[in-house]
Amino acid sequence: MITINVTNKSLWDNTVEGYICFLTEDFQATSDRLCIDEIAKDCYPDLETILKKHQFSGKHGQSFVLTARRGSSLVQFLFIGLGKLDQPVNRELELLRRSFGDAVLLMKKLKIKQAASILPPVTRYNCSPAELIKHLTIAGIMASYDFLTFKTKERENRWSGSLCISVPPHELEACERMVKKGSIIGEAINRAREWGDLPANIMTPSALSHEAQKIAEFYGLKCTVFGREKAIELGMGGFLAVDAGSEQDGKFVILEYRGAPPDSPTIALAGKGVMFDTGGISLKPANFMEGMKYDMSGAAAVIATMSLIAQLKPCINVVGLTPLVENMPSGKASRQDDIIVCMNGKTVEIKNTDAEGRLILADTLCYAEKFYAPAIIIDIATLTGACLHALGYFYTALMTKDQKLQETLWAIGDRTGDRVWPLPLDDDFMPANESRFADVSNSEKGGYKAGSITAGCFLSNFVSKARWAHLDIAGTADSVPGNNSYIGKGATGAGIRLLTEFIMKYAECNRS
Ligand code: BES
Ligand code: ZN
Ligand code: ZN
Repeated sequence: MITINVTNKSLWDNTVEGYICFLTEDFQATSDRLCIDEIAKDCYPDLETILKKHQFSGKHGQSFVLTARRGSSLVQFLFIGLGKLDQPVNRELELLRRSFGDAVLLMKKLKIKQAASILPPVTRYNCSPAELIKHLTIAGIMASYDFLTFKTKERENRWSGSLCISVPPHELEACERMVKKGSIIGEAINRAREWGDLPANIMTPSALSHEAQKIAEFYGLKCTVFGREKAIELGMGGFLAVDAGSEQDGKFVILEYRGAPPDSPTIALAGKGVMFDTGGISLKPANFMEGMKYDMSGAAAVIATMSLIAQLKPCINVVGLTPLVENMPSGKASRQDDIIVCMNGKTVEIKNTDAEGRLILADTLCYAEKFYAPAIIIDIATLTGACLHALGYFYTALMTKDQKLQETLWAIGDRTGDRVWPLPLDDDFMPANESRFADVSNSEKGGYKAGSITAGCFLSNFVSKARWAHLDIAGTADSVPGNNSYIGKGATGAGIRLLTEFIMKYAECNRS
C-alpha cells in the first residue's frame, strides 16, 4: 500500500530516500528543467548527458535509476518518462496515470519507503493541480494493490511506502482536499478488487453480504439483506432460478444512502453478483470456467461505490442493489427449458442456464423500480463473453437508449480512465429474445449474433420508467492484458470511478 500526501515544501526540502522525476521526451517542459537542474546542482553535474548515455530520453514507459550521496545518506533518483505529451488531453492524462503507477511500482521494487516528487506539467492535462492530484492519488493507490492474502511468505514482507508531492503553496489546501478524496476512492477500489480476487470458497454470497453490512455500519448506510424466503414472497423467479442449484444461500443486498429529501430523485445502481459461474446445468468447459470467481465484479463495484458515496456525501439519494448467488449444477438446479416468472410478472424460458446474470438482474431492476422509483438506473455486470469479442479488455460496453446518459458516461469514462464505449440498444435486436413458450427467452435465437446487445435487450424488458444504462464489464473487470501499471493483474475495480464520478456530477447539477 502507498500513502500519498502533498506539501508546499520544494522537492529538495524533503528529506527522503527516493526522488521521483517525471520527465517529458527530450526534457523540454519547465518541470523537467526544475528537476534536472536541482539534481545536477547537488549531485550529478552531467545529469543530462548521463541520462542520454543510458538511452533514457523520457519516452513514455521508460524508467531509469541513479544513486548518489546526499549529506550523510544515499538517495535514489527515479526518472520516469512521460513521452511527448502530443496526444489528446484525456489520453495524456491516462498515460500520466500509468507513468505515476510506474513510479509506484519502481518504489516498491527498490523497497523505497519514502519518496518525493514534483507535480508533472499541469497545464497539459487541462486541469487544476488539485484535480490532477486526485487522478494521480487514485492511480498510485491502485498501482500499489497486491493480492497477497494467500502468499504465506510474501504477505509478511508486504511493502508499504509514502510519496509526498510538492505543489504550489497557494494550491496546497485544495490539493490536500483532493489527496483525501483520491485516497478514499483508491482504497475503496482496492477493497473491491480484493473481494474479486478472493476465491468463491471464501467469497460466498453471505461473505460479501457481511462486507456490505460492515460498510453500512461503518459509514452510516441503511443495509437490508434477505434470502430465499423473502425472494419467494416477492416473486423473484429469476434470482431463485439461479440460486436453486447452490448449497450456499443466495443473498439480496440493498444499501441506501440518503443525501437529499425523500421526494428528490434517486439513482439506483444494480450489480451482478454471481460469486462463481459454473454455467449451471449448461456447464461451462473447464477452460471457460477459470476466472469465473470474478463474475461478482458488478456487485463489488456497486458496494464499493456505495461506500464512497457514503463518504463523499453528495446531495442526492442513491440505492445500491446486488443479488449475490452462485451458479451451480446440482439436483436442485434449474434446467434448460424451465419456465420461470420474474418479479414484474414476465415469464422467461431458460434456454441456457449459463445466461444467469440477466435472470438475477431482471428481478433486481424490477425491485429497484417497484420500491424506489429511481430517476436513473445503471446496472453493471460481467454479463456476456461476446463483450470481449466486441470491445476487448480496455472498454466497458455501454448500452442505453438515453442519448444524454450515453454522452455523460462516455465523457466521464474518458476523463477518469474508467472507459466505456457504446453499443446500440436497438429494437431490431429484440426478436432475438423471443421464446416459443414464454414471454421471453434468456438466450438469443440463432442468427442474431451480437450477444452483448441481445443481453442488453433482454434486460430492457424489466425496466419500465427509469432512464436506464447497462454496463457490460465482462472484458474490463479482470485480467486485462498488457502492462498498465496501475491496473495490474487480477481484479481491476472497473466501473467504480465511473459510477462514483457520475453520481457526484449528477448531484452537483441537481443542486444548482
Ligand atoms: N459470466 C458469463 C459472461 C462472461 C464470460 C464474463 C467470460 C467474463 C468472461 C455469463 O454468465 C455467461 O456465461 N454468458 C453466456 C451467455 C450465453 C449462454 C447466452 C456467454 O456469454 O457465453
Ligand atoms: Zn454464465
Ligand atoms: Zn455469469
